[in-house]
Amino acid sequence: MLTQDDWFEAVCRSYSNPPVFYNGIKLPGFPSDEIQTNTTGQSGINTLKEAFIFYQDCIENFKILGMPLQKKHTLLDFGVGWGRIARFFLRELPLKNIYGIDVTEDFIEICKKTFQTENFLVTEPFPPTQLSSRKFNFIIGYSVFSHLSEKACESWMREFSRLLVPGGMVALTTRGRTFFDFCKSLKGKGHTGYLAALSNLFDDFSDARTRYDQGEFVHSNRDGVNGGGAMTADFYGETFIPEEYARSAYSELFHLEKFLFDPSRQTHPIMFFRKKSNSL
Ligand SMILES: C[S@@+](CC[C@H](N)C(=O)[O-])C[C@H]1O[C@@H](n2cnc3c(N)ncnc32)[C@H](O)[C@@H]1O
Repeated sequence: MLTQDDWFEAVCRSYSNPPVFYNGIKLPGFPSDEIQTNTTGQSGINTLKEAFIFYQDCIENFKILGMPLQKKHTLLDFGVGWGRIARFFLRELPLKNIYGIDVTEDFIEICKKTFQTENFLVTEPFPPTQLSSRKFNFIIGYSVFSHLSEKACESWMREFSRLLVPGGMVALTTRGRTFFDFCKSLKGKGHTGYLAALSNLFDDFSDARTRYDQGEFVHSNRDGVNGGGAMTADFYGETFIPEEYARSAYSELFHLEKFLFDPSRQTHPIMFFRKKSNSL
């Protein structure tokens, strides 16, 4: 197996100088830089760097939590986009064991084409999916629970419980406490578009942060922060899930193993859950 550094370099080369082959498969190609930026805010090596950090945090913490990724395991990337994150798991898992779902049909078409598999499926904004029960050992979702409404998150956690084997693990990112300050700092700076919308996310940012500190799920679907296309304001906006909420809200089905946030390394906190063995 390549070292993590060599693996990152190989994936970067598959962007800058394709094709690159690993374990007999051609590493997935990329959509245009414009599509990359529209979905992740960056393109090329910068957007891959952010994805690689999440991938590293996943494999390291799954190991620490007693579930190291093995070749026989299956993984679902929820809100897979154009497969930025999913591709990194090709170091540990065969292509046939990596799946992705997304509400945006165009992204699923890109994944099918670039990964050359049919393991990518369009989903409705709310479950169920067509995937069979207990199919997965791991479910990951980067920058999806940082956007979904409380009802959508709750519904998807229930679906993840159905899709996972007992003891299966979930890693999901959400907006962190520091994002309140970032959005507030954008006020009155003459921004347009998404940044202007973020500056108007709440009338009172301290009130929103206080609610977060008290363990409330905080979500805003004000104009300009729905994702566009299939991502409509009835389920999509900006979402801040505090640790206390993550621990209690899904406790019937999941145990929150870790709430990881080191702002010097991650832009989003990561919630690691383990499916309880007595859950469905
Ligand atoms: C900010 S993008 C992140 C994409 C990808 N995870 C990444 O980090 O590159 C959010 C993704 O979630 C998808 N999405 C939004 N709502 C969804 C839902 N209810 N179910 C599944 N996917 C959803 C969007 O289409 C989009 O691809």
